[in-house]
Amino acid sequence: MKKDLLSIQDLTTKDVNLLIDTALKIKSDIKDYSDVMHGRTVVLIFDKPSLRTRITFEVAMRQFGGNSIYMHGNEISLGVRETVSDAAKNLSRWVDGVVMRTFGHDIIAELAESATIPVVNALTDLEHPCQALACLLTLHEHFDNLHGRKMVFVGDGNNVAHSLMLLAPLAGMDFTMCCPVGYEPDDEIASAAKRMAVETGTTYLNDNDPESAVKDADLIYTDVWASMGQECEAEKRSQEFQEYQVNSDLLAAAGTDCLVTHCLPAHRGEEITSEVLDSPRSIAFDEAENRLHIQKAVLYTLLGM
Ligand code: CP
Ligand code: NVA
Repeated sequence: MKKDLLSIQDLTTKDVNLLIDTALKIKSDIKDYSDVMHGRTVVLIFDKPSLRTRITFEVAMRQFGGNSIYMHGNEISLGVRETVSDAAKNLSRWVDGVVMRTFGHDIIAELAESATIPVVNALTDLEHPCQALACLLTLHEHFDNLHGRKMVFVGDGNNVAHSLMLLAPLAGMDFTMCCPVGYEPDDEIASAAKRMAVETGTTYLNDNDPESAVKDADLIYTDVWASMGQECEAEKRSQEFQEYQVNSDLLAAAGTDCLVTHCLPAHRGEEITSEVLDSPRSIAFDEAENRLHIQKAVLYTLLGM
C-alpha cells in the first residue's frame, strides 16, 4: 500500500482486497482490536461539514484504544497562517495520521507530499475514496461475487461518482455513468476509469438516459445534485436533474434484484424518493454503518499495525 489514501488510484486490486478482508475481520472480531492504537493519535482537519465521516473516524480511533483530535480548517488556516508544507511537517512530529476533508484536491496532495505520516482523504471536490470503499464492503456482504455485476451512478459526475468509477474495475464490476449533459465527470478521472476498465476486462459506459442506463443493473448509486461548495447552483441543478431522480419507476426499469444506495446526506424527494431510500432494496444505511469498518481497516493498514 502507498503511504496515503488520497484517491482510489492509489490502490491496486490487491490493496482493495486487503482492505475489504481487514474490514470484515475487524467488524467480526471487534474486541481483538480494542487496543491496537493505544498511544496513537489521528488528527481530523475538516473544511466542510460532516456527520458520518467525522463520527466514524473518531469512533474508529476510540474503538482501537487510540485518540483523535478534530480541528476545523479555519482554525489552522492552511496556506494562510503558514504554508501547507510547514503544517504537514509539524503534524508529522506529533501525530500518527491526518484525515482531511477539504475543497481542492491539490491541498491534500500537497499536505501528503510533505507529511511523513499517512494522510487519508475524507472527501475533496475530486474524490471520496472512503465512501466508495464502504460501498464495496457493503456489496461484498450482499452479493456472493461481484465479478460482472453492473453499477450505475445516476446523478452528478461528482467526487463520489469519481471514486466509484475508479473502484468498480478493481472489483471486477462494470460501471455506467448516467448524468445530464454538462454534468459529466472530470475528463482525467473518466479517462483513467476507462483505461482501468480495459485493463481489468470490465466496461465503462456513459448513458444520459436513466431508464436505459439502469437496465440489468445490480446497483444504482445516487448522490445530491449540488455538492458542498455548489450551494449557489442548487436551484438550477434541481431543474436540470429532474429526469434523474431515483424513484420506484426507475427501480422498476432495473434488474429485479437491483440494490440502491446513496452516500448520504440525502435530499429526500430530490435525487431519491423516501419510498426508495427506505425500501428493502436500499443499502444506504448499511453502507453508512460500513464507513466505520472500512475506515478502521484503512487506519489499521496505513498506520502499519
Ligand atoms: N457520506 C458522508 O461523507 O457523509 P458526511 O458528509 O456526513 O461525512
Ligand atoms: N457529493 C457530496 C458528497 C457528500 C458526502 C458532496 O461533496 O457534498
